Amino acid sequence: MATFGFLTLLIIHISLLVSFCFAGDPFVNYEFEVTYITASPLGVPQPVIAINGKFPGPIINVTTNNNVVVNVRNKLDENLLITWSGIQQRRSSWQDGVLGTNCPIPPKWNWTYQFQVKDQIGSFFYFPSTTFQRAAGGFGGFIINNRDIIPIPFATPDGDITILIGDWYTRNHTDLRKTLNGGKDLGMPDGVLINGKGPYRYNTTLVPDSIDYETIDVHPGKTYRLRVHNVGVSTSLNFRIQNHNLLLAETEGSYTVQQNYTSLDIHVGQSYSFLVTMDQNASTDYYIVASARFVNESIWKRVTGVAILRYSNSKGKAAGPLPDAPNDEFDKTFSMNQARSIRWNVSASGARPNPQGSFRYGSINVTDVYVLKNKPAVMINGKRRTTLSGISFVNPATPIRLADQFNVKGVYKLDFPTKPLTGPPRMETSVINGTYRGFMEVILQNNDTKVQTYHMSGYAFFVVGMDYGEWTENSRGTYNKWDGIARSTTQVFPGAWTAILISLDNVGVWNLRTENLDSWHLGQETYVRVVNPEDTNKTELPIPDNALFCGALSKMQKPEDISLATSITGNGLKLFFTLLMMICTVIFNFH
Ligand SMILES: *[C@@H]1O[C@H](CO)[C@@H](O)[C@H](O)[C@H]1NC(C)=O
Ligand SMILES: *[C@@H]1O[C@H](CO)[C@@H](O)[C@H](O)[C@H]1NC(C)=O
Ligand SMILES: *[C@@H]1O[C@H](CO)[C@@H](O)[C@H](O)[C@H]1NC(C)=O
Ligand SMILES: *[C@@H]1O[C@H](CO)[C@@H](O)[C@H](O)[C@H]1NC(C)=O
Ligand SMILES: *[C@@H]1O[C@H](CO)[C@@H](O)[C@H](O)[C@H]1NC(C)=O
Ligand SMILES: *[C@@H]1O[C@H](CO)[C@@H](O)[C@H](O)[C@H]1NC(C)=O
Ligand SMILES: *[C@@H]1O[C@H](CO)[C@@H](O)[C@H](O)[C@H]1NC(C)=O
Ligand SMILES: *[C@@H]1O[C@H](CO)[C@@H](O)[C@H](O)[C@H]1NC(C)=O
Ligand SMILES: *[C@@H]1O[C@H](CO)[C@@H](O)[C@H](O)[C@H]1NC(C)=O
Ligand SMILES: *[C@@H]1O[C@H](CO)[C@@H](O)[C@H](O)[C@H]1NC(C)=O
Ligand SMILES: *[C@@H]1O[C@H](CO)[C@@H](O)[C@H](O)[C@H]1NC(C)=O
Ligand SMILES: *[C@@H]1O[C@H](CO)[C@@H](O)[C@H](O)[C@H]1NC(C)=O
Repeated sequence: MATFGFLTLLIIHISLLVSFCFAGDPFVNYEFEVTYITASPLGVPQPVIAINGKFPGPIINVTTNNNVVVNVRNKLDENLLITWSGIQQRRSSWQDGVLGTNCPIPPKWNWTYQFQVKDQIGSFFYFPSTTFQRAAGGFGGFIINNRDIIPIPFATPDGDITILIGDWYTRNHTDLRKTLNGGKDLGMPDGVLINGKGPYRYNTTLVPDSIDYETIDVHPGKTYRLRVHNVGVSTSLNFRIQNHNLLLAETEGSYTVQQNYTSLDIHVGQSYSFLVTMDQNASTDYYIVASARFVNESIWKRVTGVAILRYSNSKGKAAGPLPDAPNDEFDKTFSMNQARSIRWNVSASGARPNPQGSFRYGSINVTDVYVLKNKPAVMINGKRRTTLSGISFVNPATPIRLADQFNVKGVYKLDFPTKPLTGPPRMETSVINGTYRGFMEVILQNNDTKVQTYHMSGYAFFVVGMDYGEWTENSRGTYNKWDGIARSTTQVFPGAWTAILISLDNVGVWNLRTENLDSWHLGQETYVRVVNPEDTNKTELPIPDNALFCGALSKMQKPEDISLATSITGNGLKLFFTLLMMICTVIFNFH
């Protein structure tokens, strides 16, 4: 009976299998049990979102082209979605884990993500995308290693260390949400955590007693790859290690031109790899610092993350003042120049972010231009909301991708304006009509007084320019047309613009959002819908069997969802893969 079920399954899902065959690439399985635990990172007990009992969650560590399977068990009292920041989900926005494409996983339910990390390498992270949950944790690192046959543009490091930095509130995420929904600002955070832990007590006035801090153990003379991610709510952070150079090597899937920095500004949602050589004499331990940027230092002093770098031959504790943050109060271009100095190593081999030929991006003609302008929060219909080009995005009850699949009308409008609206701001489910195989130029203009970072799912884009003031057509003359970095998350300085180029080769519905959690929660996002006009099933994977249904389609939801990945076990699994191999062989022989 079970076997018969399998055969049926195989016939029905032949197209899905074809996509599996492409490489016969290994599967890597993870179980994520998502629960609340009580933790006191800043000395105040609070509910924190843990994965398998851990905060931060486990690191996903896979290799290019692996098929990643993550069974998520939602043991929270709220809906949940996990999104994989920077993972491109090629041909499958079904796995992107945001409300515009997926129905949320209800409390007490399982949902199994399955996606291939096709042609990707680098440092990424995952987090819960739903209802402000990232402010409570639920995040963790996501590493994609190169395949053995692909060289990396530096010597193999002696160790690989993930460091998650982020601002943190002692109020829980439901309280923070209530504050925002009630029309108020969150105010200053209470601290900065490093790997889920509070600051080392470098100053007895500023840091209370008995706070658990992070210690990174290293050996003298060795070189480590540090993967640093800003997983916080909304604060830009300056990252530095006392007496040590940070040799920048990679960001969000692209190898950079290697350069030393004494400190680097890491904005919300951004990821960097540094190579750090333990070349000091270990007369003491060393401070690792993540301090708030572009704020009044004398007020924000207590909001500083401090961890310890400890050599195995260390002769004592770190002491004295923290290493200085950049002193650029009167030079607002320092941070921007640093951002501009991050360039792509165009000669490094390895998986390309967009393998479909956008490598010489400077010579590709732009097909669509969008100027997206954000403004400080405004009142719309009596609600305090944030906007992008005058539109405050409203998540539809039926996700956009699902609505398309089942022809549900009236869920969204494909009318996102190419230039900011001049009329009064409005609340709408307005989406960008992307041109499949087009080359889109997006200018992000920040009219707010805070740095915002913007992220696009499904893609890496080229960061080609940024400057203060209003963008004009003439600004194109300043674009970097050669080695702009390809990444998925870029900062936009206040009163400034950032220009990005995107090769729309990935079919699906893709989130374009601010990573600053407060602005995002209040509506500063949209989606880019990319449809292949040709009727083919090759450019997008079919809807997964375990797709959840909600909104206008909630009647289609089976009460008990048993997914493909969880229903096939034991001998069944063996049979499944044997048959899969046979089908693959047949297909390849025909070619
Ligand atoms: C990831 O896995 C590789 C082996 O595939 C291993 O060499 C490496 O140490 C792992 N990295 C981490 C951070 O666990
Ligand atoms: C959820 O997943 C776990 C582990 O795979 C399994 O034991 C459990 O039966 C699943 N529950 C549901 C409701 O599918
Ligand atoms: C760029 O990558 C190449 C090839 O791996 C490497 O030899 C070179 O050192 C890198 N250049 C810089 C400036 O990082
Ligand atoms: C957050 O705290 C409030 C009280 O301030 C409480 O009512 C609420 O249940 C808490 N939320 C969670 C997720 O524990
Ligand atoms: C600790 O911080 C306080 C407040 O900023 C400052 O006045 C004091 O000098 C610092 N103490 C040391 C030992 O640096
Ligand atoms: C970076 O700094 C280290 C010392 O910490 C030095 O050995 C190395 O040559 C520097 N690399 C570059 C590319 O400047
Ligand atoms: C170790 O290095 C520090 C900082 O570079 C220096 O001040 C100190 O004198 C050195 N100590 C020894 C024993 O070499
Ligand atoms: C920072 O805050 C302090 C204390 O409120 C104030 O005295 C100082 O003028 C502020 N500095 C700047 C540059 O705004
Ligand atoms: C780009 O446009 C220019 C002028 O319209 C045209 O001459 C050129 O061939 C185009 N390039 C490509 C790669 O299509
Ligand atoms: C969306 O763009 C396509 C071309 O890429 C065009 O054919 C279609 O009419 C557009 N749809 C709307 C609603 O503007
Ligand atoms: C916001 O836009 C207005 C109108 O264009 C302009 O006068 C103002 O300088 C801008 N502010 C910032 C911070 O960009
Ligand atoms: C996918 O396309 C191929 C070729 O056009 C066709 O034979 C196959 O039936 C299609 N599969 C599905 C599930 O539509």
